[in-house]
Amino acid sequence: MRGIWEENSYLRNKIIMKHWIDKFANCRILVIGDCMIDEYVWGTVDRISPEAPVPVVAVKRDNATLGGAGNVVNNLAALQADVTIVGTYGLGENGRRLKKMFEDVGANTNGLALDESRATTIKTRIMASQQHVLRIDRETSHPISNKMVELIAHNIFNCIKSVDLIIVSDYGKGLLTPEMLEAIMKQAKNHNKPVLVDPKGFHYEKYHGASLITPNRKEAAQAANMDITDMPTLICAGQSLMKNVGLPGLLITCGKDGMVLFEPNKAPYHIETRARQVFDVSGAGDTVISVMGLALAAGAGYREAASLANTAAGLVVGKVGTATISQDELRNAVV
Ligand SMILES: Nc1ncnc2c1ncn2[C@@H]1O[C@H](COP(=O)(O)OP(=O)(O)OP(=O)(O)O)[C@@H](O)[C@H]1O
Ligand SMILES: [Mg+2]
Repeated sequence: MRGIWEENSYLRNKIIMKHWIDKFANCRILVIGDCMIDEYVWGTVDRISPEAPVPVVAVKRDNATLGGAGNVVNNLAALQADVTIVGTYGLGENGRRLKKMFEDVGANTNGLALDESRATTIKTRIMASQQHVLRIDRETSHPISNKMVELIAHNIFNCIKSVDLIIVSDYGKGLLTPEMLEAIMKQAKNHNKPVLVDPKGFHYEKYHGASLITPNRKEAAQAANMDITDMPTLICAGQSLMKNVGLPGLLITCGKDGMVLFEPNKAPYHIETRARQVFDVSGAGDTVISVMGLALAAGAGYREAASLANTAAGLVVGKVGTATISQDELRNAVV
């Protein structure tokens, strides 16, 4: 049984969280990042190939979803936000397919640029009797050219005034070069738009100018060049990143252990997960940055936004396959 004071703060928290969720539909988010197609081929295995000692998969069906920055768009669209995507697609059928997939979820695709020098990233998983047997990657991950940087910066310029917040989703496929990031941060500063970054790589100086970055524990350890083994070492690595990159916010996600929020001159804030059945943890990071961005755009503070993002990610990991949640699912889960 909760005491009266505890009950009051529980209800107050619930009302505040629902207030932010109610505002999600009015939030306009610009997602800039590496876009890809996640393709799944489902089948059964009854025999070994006579040509080589490999299983023969008899294909029953296939499906595809948006991956990389596309999964952030998916999450935002499922929460009814107004989403614009800026990134590249390649020549040919897969490029057209990627663009159409963004259109189908209702995203504004005017900022998608054709890069003739790159293939559209497509990751094909071969699934046999629910088991992952093989993954086939088709992609180009060299850095984009200076000409593309200019073109994409122009696309950002065309839409930045009509968005509330920017999410940069770096999957290390070559879009977010230091030059591209500099152009993004410059425009964001000029137009006073917050930028959240899901980072990649070892050097976070290139993200200077961001309002908040969201590495997972392993990524934070690599970027800080420190081992993270427990809470004191995590806090040490987080504080070092905050100082070295000059960040106003850092959210280190810790899988089943929740997340830790760092803000200048404030004690690190640990949010734990609620015990639940877990089916698929991949994509949880995309849900975290999507909900964090939406809640901040709606007017929530960092702690409230992180708490909502933690609840949302906890819901997503409990789902098989699909990696998005609706406003109602989130409303029903807030405590
Ligand atoms: N086992 C779990 N139980 C409950 N919540 C979880 C679990 N795993 C992840 N989460 C939630 O998802 C958030 C993000 O998870 P994680 O730290 O694994 O991100 P990530 O490694 O970036 O994920 P990915 O890159 O696969 O999308 C956590 O902060 C937590 O809120
Ligand atoms: Mg991640």
